[in-house]
Amino acid sequence: MDHTEAFALYEKEALEAIAAAADSNQLEAVRVDFLGKKKGRLKDLQSLVGKVSAEERPVVGKLFNEVKLRVSATLDSRKSGLDKPKTALTSLDVTLPGAPIAFGKRHPLSQTIEDFKDIIGRFGFTVADGPEIEDEYHNFNALNIPNEHPARDPLDNFYLATAAYGINAGDSGARLLRSQTSTVQIRVMEQTRPPIRIVSLGRVYRPDTIDATHSCMFHQMEGLMVGEGVTMAQLKTVLKLFAQTYLGEDVTIRFRPSFFPFTEPSVEVDMSWRDTWLEIGGAGMVDPNVLRAVGYDPDEVSGFAFGLGIERFCMRRHNITDIRRFYENDVRFLAQF
Ligand code: DAH
Repeated sequence: MDHTEAFALYEKEALEAIAAAADSNQLEAVRVDFLGKKKGRLKDLQSLVGKVSAEERPVVGKLFNEVKLRVSATLDSRKSGLDKPKTALTSLDVTLPGAPIAFGKRHPLSQTIEDFKDIIGRFGFTVADGPEIEDEYHNFNALNIPNEHPARDPLDNFYLATAAYGINAGDSGARLLRSQTSTVQIRVMEQTRPPIRIVSLGRVYRPDTIDATHSCMFHQMEGLMVGEGVTMAQLKTVLKLFAQTYLGEDVTIRFRPSFFPFTEPSVEVDMSWRDTWLEIGGAGMVDPNVLRAVGYDPDEVSGFAFGLGIERFCMRRHNITDIRRFYENDVRFLAQF
């Protein structure tokens, strides 16, 4: 038998023996037999290499190495196959209780905002957005709040140091964090002609001292309806039906005379539910000056507007007694809604 035949026979028998090994002990015996360094089949083959002529030796040596490598690779892969636990699937006990997974939840205020959009949408109001960084024109002037009005007091507003950043404030005045969502009324009317029926929900900022019912940032839902012959009776109906849909049929709405520069007449809106009255926002008929500022003719169209505190509704509904809980991000609180 020449070396080529011997190599082939060795390889054939080795692979058969590897395949036939029933467990890792048998496989180890195969390894010692076929790949053992001291004695065994490999040693015999190696001595064949020593017997060929000096010219042939490099070629035969290479063949020998290749055969050896193939056998040992096959043995290794069989070994790792035998080492794997065979029972992975059958050992799964499907009757064990599953590990509880904590799912995230939407913040209660986000849930309320979604509810509000859904409810008010049924009255035909679509959702508009406006910037939280506003200019004085939209936050004040266009809402009939002139330069000398006390609502502009820097201590009552968060002005931004635009000049320090080289931003030219321009005609629309200094920039500030909006103090009310009423700004969006103006932005919408500037872009659209009546009839209008929109709401805008978002954050507003006021330097209030923080306590159980006040925060320097909170959320409002602004509403605006403008068209021919829009009345205060419609305003009251929309607010009443809205509150009843959110809380229940047993809600009553009450208007108290008030003043806002951008509405005439203006009212404070109170809501009673389960024998408790709560102020929920302001409202009124859009002031003719505001309509004029956006190029509408107050003799042709009229409108109502309202601004509701979103936190207040959510607190009332869920019996939350401290507004600060919303912003502390304590999951033990948030997970309850
Ligand atoms: N913007 C007022 C506030 O933040 C609330 C308000 C009052 C909004 C009357 C209105 C309105 O749209 O008509 O206190």
